[in-house]
Amino acid sequence: MSARILVTEDDQVQRDVICDILLQEGYEVIPSESGAVSLSVLESDSCHLLLTDMRMPEMDGLELLRQAKRLRPETEVVVMTAHATVNTAVTAMKEGAIDYLGKPFDKEELLVVVRKALDQSALREENKQLRELVVRDSSLGNIIGESRAMQGVFDVVRRAVPLITTVLIRGESGTGKELVARHIHFEGPRKRSPFIVVNCAAIPDNLIESELFGHEKGAFTGADSAHPGKFEAADGGTLFLDEIGDMRLDSQAKLLRVLQDGAVERVGGTKTRTVDVRFVSATNRDLSERVTEGAFREDLYYRLDVLNVLLPPLRERVDDLPLLVQHFREKLAEKLGKATPEIGADAFEVMRRYRWPGNVRELEHTLEQTFILTDASTILPEHLPEKLRNPEPETGDYVLPAGGVILEEVEQDFMRQALERTGGRIKEAAELLGMSYKTFQYRLKKHQIDRESTSEHD
Ligand SMILES: Nc1ncnc2c1ncn2[C@@H]1O[C@H](COP(=O)(O)OP(=O)(O)OP(=O)(O)O)[C@@H](O)[C@H]1O
Ligand SMILES: [Mg+2]
Repeated sequence: MSARILVTEDDQVQRDVICDILLQEGYEVIPSESGAVSLSVLESDSCHLLLTDMRMPEMDGLELLRQAKRLRPETEVVVMTAHATVNTAVTAMKEGAIDYLGKPFDKEELLVVVRKALDQSALREENKQLRELVVRDSSLGNIIGESRAMQGVFDVVRRAVPLITTVLIRGESGTGKELVARHIHFEGPRKRSPFIVVNCAAIPDNLIESELFGHEKGAFTGADSAHPGKFEAADGGTLFLDEIGDMRLDSQAKLLRVLQDGAVERVGGTKTRTVDVRFVSATNRDLSERVTEGAFREDLYYRLDVLNVLLPPLRERVDDLPLLVQHFREKLAEKLGKATPEIGADAFEVMRRYRWPGNVRELEHTLEQTFILTDASTILPEHLPEKLRNPEPETGDYVLPAGGVILEEVEQDFMRQALERTGGRIKEAAELLGMSYKTFQYRLKKHQIDRESTSEHD
């Protein structure tokens, strides 16, 4: 079945050009001159992709996007807009558009964006069908984990592997971001092509451009010979942009251009080369927060964040500890050339309670250190490093909630937890929080907390 594309463009000449290109590619195309016409099409027929102009008389592209999404949430939307209005494009992506095309665009640009959007649409469809068929695996290649959180990660990663879609990997330090990036590349169709790593935080500002784009001989003092950049090196393969959250704004602008049209120009050069690169990026920062702070370009964020992998911190998946420990015991036995000891139950408990700020990497190093320093056949708590047994007190057990949570929500959350812990007994729950019985009851009503749902009964 060929994909069905609804093209909404009020300018007839442009509409015809676009429709012709898509028809030649074998797509099924429905031309439409206005938002109203498109909506009536969507009412009776489902489409894979809606391609819409932004500025149109009467209903504009944004309004069409909103209504189309309400009518047919499964339809992907790509908006076409003049370069000057990138902000509108970003708004459109917030409203659910999957991509945008800056006008004017050529045939190749149009087809690249359309193909990517349709890839996504197929992916979502497949997602829906496969969601029921969850298989529990204890690992995906070298990535270990059977916790629910990791099953979710495996799910996205599995889907990302056969595609060339851009992937953004988030997670604290040591949670396995690079491991996932490598898996995506080396299990995928590009495994025989290069996997190039760029650490965006480590390259000095003045070198980043020549590092990424390359330079021609004599481009600057010291440029004794021509040098291809990382983009060219990754042509046909994958470019892993590590620590992308630390990239400077001016470099971000340049990167955005490559993502948009795949064109790179060496520093000091005049020739534009087109590269075919799959982008995988990683960060331990909260990119949307960086956007709010003005430190990260919003349009770039939306370009990078197509498929999203969020790696949970180790402390939130302690159920995976036995598997991980087993994995590292085997790995370390080989590395250290000796049988590695068992972890006793008490030592295990210590490990479960520790917060692991350095996550899996810290676990691996902790085990290695412990195995080197002892010949015991079973690890006891005293064999473990001091920091695990007597962890530094956290800055309060009260971790500040992230992302605009208001105090009332925190209060509700605490009240729920107190009820849960006391089996729903109000008096005890109130005592636990140092509230009077009356205040607690009053706030229960106010927050409409359902006591029954947190426990059986008194
Ligand atoms: N789920 C996992 N299963 C097995 N090994 C893991 C897992 N997660 C991480 N590791 C191991 O932990 C170490 C750190 O992983 P990695 O370098 O991928 O982390 P990262 O998220 O990129 O960290 P950073 O933010 O510090 O760069 C590696 O040796 C990796 O093999
Ligand atoms: Mg890393």
